[in-house]
Amino acid sequence: MSTEITFALTKGRILKETLRLLAEAGIEPTEDIDNSRKLVFGCSAPGVRLLVIRGLDVPTYVRHGAADIGVVGKDVLLENGGEGLYEPLDLGIARCRLMTAAPVGWTPGSSRVRVATKFTEIARRFFAERGVHADVIKLYGAMELAPMMNLADVIVDIVDTGNTMRANGLEPIDVIADISSRLVVNKAAMRGKHAAIQGIIDALTVAVARRDA
Ligand code: PRP
Repeated sequence: MSTEITFALTKGRILKETLRLLAEAGIEPTEDIDNSRKLVFGCSAPGVRLLVIRGLDVPTYVRHGAADIGVVGKDVLLENGGEGLYEPLDLGIARCRLMTAAPVGWTPGSSRVRVATKFTEIARRFFAERGVHADVIKLYGAMELAPMMNLADVIVDIVDTGNTMRANGLEPIDVIADISSRLVVNKAAMRGKHAAIQGIIDALTVAVARRDA
């Protein structure tokens, strides 16, 4: 097994915070990721290259060993399964909560509920564990609209400030999970490239602790 380490990062909102943490751990891209259309980047740490991909794709790359290590939201891991991956570190970035929400004043009418969400697996599990029959409707965005248009009774969505829900007449009900970005590691790489991977985990653990001190 080569000792080259491929590190898959989630692009989008969490990338900036991820790069700040990586820099603290001595891993800095050799060019400006924000102003590039490239997907693979060299970096200051010898033998480490960075991939910048969709969060949903990070577990796939890491599970198959196409990347050795990655950064991805806990919401993605809960929805798509974190099987075949180690999850050694909570990076504590992009913190939010995954919640159910309904129009202000809504009360459940029966043991059946219509749920609009892009987190269909999480929603199915959550309601099944409570013995509630959920008709889960898959949406790709603007979940807050669904109750207003009578497409659903409740939604399952990410809540950060709560502003989006409030602005659309919804109130959060149950916290399903606390979400933040996690480090994930390919199991075979953890064995075969142990020293290099453990070095990255240790450096990031120190960077997280220093940031939170
Ligand atoms: C998320 C989520 C809510 C919003 C919550 O959407 O789906 O719409 O953020 O944030 P708030 O509680 O601070 O208002 P995001 O902007 O990530 O886009 P998405 O619809 O692509 O998920």
